[in-house]
Amino acid sequence: MAAYRILVTDDLSPQAIERLQAADDVSFDVVRRPSKGTLEGIIPDYDALIIRSSSRVDADLLAAAPRLKVVGRAGMGLDNVDIDAASLRGVIVMNTPGANTIATAEHTVALLLALCRHVPQADASLRAGEWARSEFLGVQLYGKTLGIVGLGRVGVQVARRAQSFEMDVIAFDPYISDEVARELRVTLVDLDGLLAQSDFISLNAALTPETRGLINALTIARMKRGVRLVNCARGALGDEVALVDGLRSGHVAGIALDVFAQEPLPADSPLRSLPNVVITPHIAANTVEAQRDVGTQIVDQVLAALRGQDFRNAVNMPVADANVFQALKPYLRLAEKLGSLQMQLSEGPIKRVEVECHGDELVDHVKPLTVALLKGLLDPISDTPVNYINAPHLALQRGISVSETKGLPAPNYADLISCRVVWDGGERLISGSLLGHELPRVVQIDEFRVSAELEGVILVVEVISMSGLMGRVGTFLAEHNVNIAEWWLGRTAAGIQIPSFINLDVPASPEVLAKLVQMEGVVNVRQVML
Ligand code: MLT
Repeated sequence: MAAYRILVTDDLSPQAIERLQAADDVSFDVVRRPSKGTLEGIIPDYDALIIRSSSRVDADLLAAAPRLKVVGRAGMGLDNVDIDAASLRGVIVMNTPGANTIATAEHTVALLLALCRHVPQADASLRAGEWARSEFLGVQLYGKTLGIVGLGRVGVQVARRAQSFEMDVIAFDPYISDEVARELRVTLVDLDGLLAQSDFISLNAALTPETRGLINALTIARMKRGVRLVNCARGALGDEVALVDGLRSGHVAGIALDVFAQEPLPADSPLRSLPNVVITPHIAANTVEAQRDVGTQIVDQVLAALRGQDFRNAVNMPVADANVFQALKPYLRLAEKLGSLQMQLSEGPIKRVEVECHGDELVDHVKPLTVALLKGLLDPISDTPVNYINAPHLALQRGISVSETKGLPAPNYADLISCRVVWDGGERLISGSLLGHELPRVVQIDEFRVSAELEGVILVVEVISMSGLMGRVGTFLAEHNVNIAEWWLGRTAAGIQIPSFINLDVPASPEVLAKLVQMEGVVNVRQVML
C-alpha cells in the first residue's frame, strides 16, 4: 500500500503527473477545481494537496484535513492559502518561486506592447473585415519611464526587458537596497515619486496587507495624465472601479490586466467592453516551460517533504534549506530535549521562555533552535501533535512569551543552548550541549554544573547534600528493582540543596517515587521521560 496519498486539484503538466506516477510510495488523485464542499468532503484521506490559484486552502478546509501534512502551490502566489491556519495545524506550505518568473515577465512586456500598439483591437478590427490603419495610432516605449511596483524576481526581469527597449526604469520597493537597485540600473523612488514620474506602471508586487488596493482613486490622481498601467501580479493590488473611472475620464490612457479582483472576470465587467483595455485570463505563467517547471518542482518538493528529506521553499518552516537542516538536526534534537525537560520540571504554567545559543555553529540559528525547544516544551502538555511549524503558534495561544536573549550565565562550551523558563513565583535555567556532536547532555541547572545524558527515563532528585545519602538512595532503588543506567551527582559542600540525575532503564513506579521522596535529605523527586 502507498505510504502517502496526494490530491491534485488543478491542471499539472504531463511531466509532473509522470513524476507522481513514478513514485512507488505514493498514490494520487486528480480532481480538477472541486467546489469548496467537494474538496472538504474528500480532503480527510490525503497527506498532501497540490494546488494552483483556483483552490482556496482556508481554515475550514484545514479543519477537515486531519492527515494533511503538506500543501504544495504550483506557482508563486500564496494569497489563496491561509498560511497562519496551516501553521497552527502543523501543515507545511510550499510554493515554487522562480519557476514561472520569466514567463510572467515576458507576458508583462507582451501586455505593455499590446497596450501601446492596440494589438488586440487592431487584430479584431482586421478580422471584422476592416482596414482601419489610422485608428490605431500607438506610442513607443523607447525613452519613456517605466515605474515598477515591487522589484522582486518578476520585477527585476521586467526591468531588464524594459531596459532593452531603452526605457528609463524606476521602482518602488521598500525592501530593496540602493546597492541592489544600482546594480540593476534601476532608480529607487518612493511611491509618490513613482506615480508622478512614470509613463507606464507595472505592478509586480506580492499581495500583502500593505499592497492591497495600492492603486486606487487617490493614487491614480497622483499619476501622470496619460499613464498606462499593466498588472500581471494580483488583481487586488488595484481597485478596478477606480481604474475604470480613470480610463473613462481620460486620466489613464490604457490598462492591461492579466489578473482581476474576482476570477474568472465577471461577464458584465466593464473591463470587457472598454476601449484601451487589454485583458488576458490570468495566463502570464502559462508557458510550456513554466508549467513544466512549476509542476515538476512542486511534485519533487512535496514528495521530499512527505518523506522528511527536504523542505525546500517551505514558507512556514524554521529551516527550509536541506543542508542546514541536516547539519542542525542533532542540535534541534538537543533543543527539543531541553524544552521537554524544562516543561517536565516546571512548577507552574510557563509564562516566559528565553533562549540563548552560544558557539559558531549555533549563533545564526537561534530561531529554528527556539522553535525546536518550544516543540519539546509543548509536546508533553499538548493534546494536538506539535511540530516545527505549529510550535510558535501554540506557544502564543498559551500566552507564553518567547524571546531570544543574550547574557544568560552559562558554562563555557563550544556549542551550547541555554534556556530560562519563568512561571509565577519561579524560574529555572537549563543548558545543554552535544557529546561528540551527537549525544544530547544537560550541562547546567541553575547555578549547578551537571553532566547527564538527556535520553529515556530520568529521575531528577533534589537532595540536601549529606554524607551517605546517595548510597542510601542507590540501595533503596536497587531493593525496589529499579535499574540505574547512569548516575550524575554534583559535589558540593554539606547542607546545600543540589540536583542529581539518575538515568533509569525503565520507569520507577509511583509507589517507589512516593517512598523515595520520604527519605531524609531528599527534597524533591521528578521522573521525566525524554
Ligand atoms: C503564480 O502565482 O504563480 C501565478 O499567478 C500563476 C498561477 O496562479 O498559477
